[in-house]
Amino acid sequence: MQIFDVLIDEHSRIERLAHRLEAAPPEAIAMRRELLDNLRETWTHHARAEEKTFYDPLRTIDGSFDEVVLEAYANHNAIEALMRELEILNPADSRFDAKARALYYAMVRHFEEEESWIFDAAKRRLAASDPEHWAENYLSDYLSSAVSNKSSSSL
Ligand SMILES: [Fe+2]
Ligand SMILES: [Fe+2]
Repeated sequence: MQIFDVLIDEHSRIERLAHRLEAAPPEAIAMRRELLDNLRETWTHHARAEEKTFYDPLRTIDGSFDEVVLEAYANHNAIEALMRELEILNPADSRFDAKARALYYAMVRHFEEEESWIFDAAKRRLAASDPEHWAENYLSDYLSSAVSNKSSSSL
């Protein structure tokens, strides 16, 4: 299931960025802004592709995953709300530190949840009902959305 490897790889990249953001000193205002922009872009690409190519098809294939999928979406929304709050704060504001830390831990918790059991449960379900074809389709979707995101972000 190559798609899981791609998603886990993205998790590590996002986690490193979120860690750098929460560790950046308050006086490094430009660095904090740049890290936040970078994190938002990387996260947004990951979350939208994950929803489109993994969670949506998963709940279509097996409705018993509905609750799991909706909880994952709620986590995505909560993480995005924190990023929006950070965007309107002055990076030198002490509230920025607290929110950046909360964002980092929210991401770590979400990734741990996905990697510790959601992906495994999905793998088991998909292996029983569908051959490699499933993952390959979604992987190619995922990669093409990465390419189109890249080209639109460079406009
Ligand atoms: Fe997710
Ligand atoms: Fe994820």
